Amino acid sequence: MCGIVGYLGHKKATEVLVEGLSKLEYRGYDSAGVAINTKENLEIRKFKGRLSVLSDDLEKNPINGGLGIGHTRWATHGEPSDVNSHPHFNKDKSIAVVHNGIIENYLELKEELQNEGYEFLSQTDTEVVAHLVDKYYKGNLLDAVYKATEKLRGAYALGVICKDNDKELVAVRKDSPLIVGLGENENFIASDIPAILKYTKKVYFLENNEFVHIVDNNVTVFDMNKNIVNKAINEITWDVESASKGGYEHFMLKEIYEQPNAVKETLIRRLDNNKCIKLDDIKLTKEDLEKINKVYIIACGTAYHAGLIGKYAIEKFANIPVICDIASEFRYNNPFIDNNTLVILVSQSGETADTLASLRYAKENGARIMSITNVVGSSIARESDDVFYTWAGPEISVASTKAYTTQVVSFYMIALDFGMKKEIITKEFYDKTIENLKSIDKKIEKVLSQEDYIKEVTKTLNKKDNAFYLGRGLDYLVAMEGALKIKEISYIHAEAFAAGELKHGTIALIEKGTPVIAILTQENLLEKMISNIEEVRARGAYVIAITKENHKEVEKSADKVIYIPDICDNLSTVLTVIPLQLLAYYAAIQRGCDVDKPRNLAKSVTVE
Ligand code: G6P
Repeated sequence: MCGIVGYLGHKKATEVLVEGLSKLEYRGYDSAGVAINTKENLEIRKFKGRLSVLSDDLEKNPINGGLGIGHTRWATHGEPSDVNSHPHFNKDKSIAVVHNGIIENYLELKEELQNEGYEFLSQTDTEVVAHLVDKYYKGNLLDAVYKATEKLRGAYALGVICKDNDKELVAVRKDSPLIVGLGENENFIASDIPAILKYTKKVYFLENNEFVHIVDNNVTVFDMNKNIVNKAINEITWDVESASKGGYEHFMLKEIYEQPNAVKETLIRRLDNNKCIKLDDIKLTKEDLEKINKVYIIACGTAYHAGLIGKYAIEKFANIPVICDIASEFRYNNPFIDNNTLVILVSQSGETADTLASLRYAKENGARIMSITNVVGSSIARESDDVFYTWAGPEISVASTKAYTTQVVSFYMIALDFGMKKEIITKEFYDKTIENLKSIDKKIEKVLSQEDYIKEVTKTLNKKDNAFYLGRGLDYLVAMEGALKIKEISYIHAEAFAAGELKHGTIALIEKGTPVIAILTQENLLEKMISNIEEVRARGAYVIAITKENHKEVEKSADKVIYIPDICDNLSTVLTVIPLQLLAYYAAIQRGCDVDKPRNLAKSVTVE
């Protein structure tokens, strides 16, 4: 996601900003920019592309000044372009703003500001902030930022500077990260610690709705009622490498922990009034949907597993038959594609070669193309008729985690929207499912709070070379993702089976101590799953069960039980996958594997 750095001090601000931004590159970005107070004016440079485009330009045409704000952007509202890059500014370029987060009510604010005569240059949500600060600025920048934020809904970390004072920087955070770095006669703001570690190890961690006012060498933090907050100084002991992982040992663990926020992002930006799904980027109308007689979902790896849940959701909520296929197989399987087929491509990176080739094949054969992807402006996004961005933030670890959960949530939203438009589901079911989706981030947090217990349970997998993952219905589909996760990072051979199918062959492999991970959340299949657990246990299997917290009876049949909070059966997938990710993670750690860079694998597979 976007990265922010701000500086006020005796050094040349551009150098500090570029150095800081380079340390935030791990967050992923598509453009970069700075605004510097030169004492005469604010000079703004911003470019689409790598940070080197900006730094090369600054080398050729340096800007002098000790006050500045910088930004690396990861596009959400509006494609990556020079004009959409930050900083954004007011009409006469006397106020500049960098922002990380999403202003949910930006359309409403934009309209209001346009009616008052403000002109917008970019497609971003951030530009409203620059104009709002301009509107309220009467010589006191801090006051203007206070007034502007009163109007904002959503998540934001903001850095704001003004032409009138080259010794003043204002910042504020709500739901997006921001820290303050305290140096000797110089101070910093940043999205994350690595950006400032070269200069100082002393930081303030800001809480939501705290405002920072840096004037000369003085840093004051205020709460939302303008009371001074006495912040404790934190001494950072990490090096830069571990700091970019936010204190987590691996990107994978960091990304596992980012899931509550990531699924929330996927969801809230498309909830109109916090109630109804509004698929802004998807132009499929009710009439278009009526014509669609089948859907193909095509993807690779983890994205394919998310697609399997998508098939379930679209068939169940929207009553359209769905075929889910692996991208490398799809074109060779004689697909039934015509003008009434909707093809949904799922891809975190948006660049996977087989998925892209499938897209082109489907397009040539007349299908309507929709994609679910995480990367704005990626090849798959550009070549699709409709795009649903997951907004999970960059995923660095090869083993995919937050991409999966956000893709699954995306499918639930698409299926609910289709089902409602086609009048297949009732308003009551629609409302209830949205309410359940809205509570899912908190429930993921609850599962994550059991990390220590799950780590302990993983010890039973130590020195095992095989594991079996069992489930029925939706649980079987999640079992497939669990088995893939443990295979790819811990190199334990694992397979997922529909639990009822095991006795048709595979049960022959069960012997004393064979680990079996059994998922049982589907009420109508619970008794049958318990019987399947008994079958493998009778043959010596060591059973780790994952079930809902109200099914304590499972303890009688399993060796260990991991509980997920109660949730409707349709949505349990988003919760059951979390312990499976942690099991895979700790199995890999125990076996001394390189978690973030497993052998033989690549994050983005651009060959067929
Ligand atoms: C690679 C990655 C997987 C990913 C798959 C599809 O194999 O290691 O984690 O699921 O590609 O990638 P995509 O970017 O298309 O989702």
